[in-house]
Amino acid sequence: MGTIRVTDLEGVTHTVEAEPGRSVMELIYDAGLPIKAACFGCCSCSTCHVYVDPEWLDKLPPPGPDEEDILDMTAEPRDTSRLSCQITYNDALDGLHVTLAEDTRPD
Ligand code: FES
Repeated sequence: MGTIRVTDLEGVTHTVEAEPGRSVMELIYDAGLPIKAACFGCCSCSTCHVYVDPEWLDKLPPPGPDEEDILDMTAEPRDTSRLSCQITYNDALDGLHVTLAEDTRPD
C-alpha cells in the first residue's frame, strides 16, 4: 500500500491511500474526493481527466489510441493530460501527484 497526492479543483492537495491494481480514478473516488467519472472506467467520457505532475509523466505507460481520442475532446487539454481511469496504480507510482481538471467537476 502506498499513497498518491491529488490536488482538487479548489487547489487543496490530499494524500490518498493507493492499492496496486486499482486505477487512479478509483483511488480518487474511493477517497471520497469529487470526481464525476461518468463512465466509471470505460474510457468513453472525459470526466476523469487529470493533469499529471511532469516529473511523473515518463513513469506512466503512454496513452492508448482510445484515450488519446478522448483527451482531444477535453475542455483544456495539456501535454500532461491523462484519463485517471486508464492509469493503473503500482508500487512504482508511490507518491504520484495528479491535479483534477475542470472536466471532473460533478454536476
Ligand atoms: S471515467 Fe470515463 S473515461 Fe475515465
